[in-house]
Amino acid sequence: MEKKHPGKLLIVESNPDRILIIRGVLDLWAKDHQSQIDFVSSVAEAVAKISAAPFDVILTASRLADKTGFDLLIEIRNRNMRTPVLLMISEGDDQSALGVLRFGFADCISDSDGSFTGLTHSIETAHERFVTRGREKKVLDELAAKNVQLRSANAKIAEISTRDELTGLYNHRFFQEKAAEEFARSMRYHYPLSCLIVDIDYFKNINDTYGHSAGDEVLHALAQFFTSHLRQADTIARYGGEEFAILLPYTTYDGAYLMADRLRKKIMDMTFLGGSHPSLKISVSIGVASYPEDPVDGKDMLLFYADKALYRAKGGGRNRVYLYRTMTVDAEKIPDLKFRTDKVAEFRRRLFDVSEMAKRAYIEATKALINALEAKDAHTMGHAARVGNYSALVAREMGLKEDEVRIIEHGGLLHDIGKICISDDILLKPGVYTPEEYEKMKAHPVLGYQIVKPIKFLAEEALVVLYHHEWYNGEGYPYGLKDKEIPIGARIVSVLDAYDTMRVAGGRYKRTLNCEEAVRELIKYAGTQFDPKVVLHLVHALLKRNDLEADAYDRAELERSLKMLAA
Ligand SMILES: [Fe+2]
Ligand SMILES: [Fe+2]
Repeated sequence: MEKKHPGKLLIVESNPDRILIIRGVLDLWAKDHQSQIDFVSSVAEAVAKISAAPFDVILTASRLADKTGFDLLIEIRNRNMRTPVLLMISEGDDQSALGVLRFGFADCISDSDGSFTGLTHSIETAHERFVTRGREKKVLDELAAKNVQLRSANAKIAEISTRDELTGLYNHRFFQEKAAEEFARSMRYHYPLSCLIVDIDYFKNINDTYGHSAGDEVLHALAQFFTSHLRQADTIARYGGEEFAILLPYTTYDGAYLMADRLRKKIMDMTFLGGSHPSLKISVSIGVASYPEDPVDGKDMLLFYADKALYRAKGGGRNRVYLYRTMTVDAEKIPDLKFRTDKVAEFRRRLFDVSEMAKRAYIEATKALINALEAKDAHTMGHAARVGNYSALVAREMGLKEDEVRIIEHGGLLHDIGKICISDDILLKPGVYTPEEYEKMKAHPVLGYQIVKPIKFLAEEALVVLYHHEWYNGEGYPYGLKDKEIPIGARIVSVLDAYDTMRVAGGRYKRTLNCEEAVRELIKYAGTQFDPKVVLHLVHALLKRNDLEADAYDRAELERSLKMLAA
């Protein structure tokens, strides 16, 4: 522990009376604590003193022989000295008192009672604070130094944990992290990302013939070759035993192919081993995949495709580059590939077409399933298809975009698919359901949703399926959504589901309703069960098709109803 009392004090004061007072206060104290006190009267003298030897505490009057105590403080701080400086002020010297806080004096002592009461206390406190701060700073400095050491040790450990011990390249685990990062960045900023997976042909023969250390030597040399032939932004890793994976950001398929083939040719020209072994020639097979030209949704798929291409390169005779996109064409035979800016757009169009085809194929397959379901009950035959078609009609009447119309059409077609999970006893039961049976039946939207939801490209149709029994006023099921909470597709399908059931289903109804009667029912429940706007547009569509003409209907009454719906 350092001593509490300052060993050396400098008093800067030009007023002889005050010097006498200060001496009176400090002499005995200094003697008791073996403190040395020097007196000077000007800033110039004070500066000379502190430049010659350091002081523990400096006390200064605000007015000095040449300048002021403030000037002295500035001089001290300009010399980068942290020594505590106390300001001695006269009674009523308020301006100086305020300045104390602003300028950074350690304290301010007033001679208001002519005796500088508390002077020694102020000196001791200022000194103690200074010493404590110094001690703290020392501890903090040591801590900071330790932190730097620790950080560098941690960085080393982290670096080691990302590296493959033999080759010094990144390891498989780190490559996966890096690939995820790069893929996310490519998606976000719309730049291409290619991936190569390189495999040494017949590597097992090298190990078998020359021993594992020779195999290791080849891996090590190849790692160095890759490191020196790739760009700073590229990532290269030892992916498996004799497999290397390379990520090429900002590189299109064409660019990746050129790079891969250049590496392959250079490796063919290299000579490995030597020394105690005969020199050895090797070749590599390389699989290439590239985002966005390959339809990949993440780094796993990109790596998977590159791996598939590698597999084909090996199957095709090795020592070659294979592109995933040309699984049927030998990449070696591809004529000079040129960069084409419209390629990505063109590929996206193709991708879109493929997904549309897949969607259609799925819908077609589903139709068969729905037909089988509907075939159980003569009353429901063709219900789903009609609901789909009429829903599309109404969606168009409402001015929705064509892609939305398609979603609604498919949603209509699929709306009751969940019924395949309901037992025939309930499904085919004539007449009214018991409460238990009704509860079971009510599960079909959720069951249908669970069937359709996993099909990624039918995500929006799945919502139509889920919500087609919600009511406009919130009294439907399964969630009691209301009004616009229910997707428009589900609101449309809900109306057409009811319309078709009344028109055709018979069965549960006493008799099949004609078009006009069914419309009357829909209008009756518009605003409670049905969205009035949907009912309105259905009626418009039916009028355009002359579907209502065949039935005797009161035109004036219908006009009134339509006006109400429109309002
Ligand atoms: Fe339904
Ligand atoms: Fe239905």
